[in-house]
Amino acid sequence: MEEPLRSLSDGVYGAELDRRIDEAAGVIRDRLARAPELAAPRLAIVLGSGLGGVAELLDAEPRIVIPYREIPHVPVATVAGHAGELIAGIASGMPVLLLSGRAHPYEGWSHRQATLLLRACLTLGIETLVVTNASGGINPAFDPGDVMLIADVINLSGDNPLTGPNLDRFGPRFVSMTDALDADLRMQARAAAARAGVTLREGVYLMLAGPAYETRAELRMLGTLGADAVGMSTVPEVLVARHHGVPVLGFSLVTNKATPEMEGEVTHEEVLAMGPIGAARLQSVLGQLLPELG
Ligand code: HPA
Repeated sequence: MEEPLRSLSDGVYGAELDRRIDEAAGVIRDRLARAPELAAPRLAIVLGSGLGGVAELLDAEPRIVIPYREIPHVPVATVAGHAGELIAGIASGMPVLLLSGRAHPYEGWSHRQATLLLRACLTLGIETLVVTNASGGINPAFDPGDVMLIADVINLSGDNPLTGPNLDRFGPRFVSMTDALDADLRMQARAAAARAGVTLREGVYLMLAGPAYETRAELRMLGTLGADAVGMSTVPEVLVARHHGVPVLGFSLVTNKATPEMEGEVTHEEVLAMGPIGAARLQSVLGQLLPELG
């Protein structure tokens, strides 16, 4: 019947997508009900590669860990450095959900599939979303190990999680992406970084689909397009959160230089190796920030 939907080859759109989000949310809700303090999470944090240590910011008790494979319809992350579990706990007296690991479009998931878990979590009443990732530094002033506050995003990934019939219960057909990264949250993040003694870079994160890293010609182009950092995630999450009307804050860990003139080449090993330096810095920023978000 609807000819255009043939292009949505994942088959996960409209009523089917809605049903799957609802089923995933139901399972998470049932599991969280075992610890009443965790049942109504207010903050969600998506943890990129190597950021699993952020879980240390949660109280040891109570905690509930749900492996992604136990939540229906949720793609299981396959990349090294991505644990693939939902961790519920308390940070600064506030119930928090950590999405430790994410599915990436380069693994073959559509943006709708890749954001299904986040959408399920948002339906539980999340009031603020924090997204994190690893990126290549296009801005020549950025060094590996830097933490960049995401000021804005550019979607050059070739997909969008909001394509297909609109899910009206979440938000409108046409979503504003003006000031998609919340200005007040960014101000709080800058103050938190100052308290933590961490130098925060700030700039535009551009998403490509990957999985190949960029050619020098592409890096030159991305620089002229106004990008400060390039990566393969996060923008779908910002889109669904804005659709839900949830304010978003984002941090990018610059793991490597990504300039046309850089020496050598980008490798996944380098990306993984530099992660911990930025991760430790970001953890101290979040340690200062979370009490403010409560
Ligand atoms: N390009 C794209 N994605 C990345 C990079 C990069 O240089 N580094 C970490 N993620």
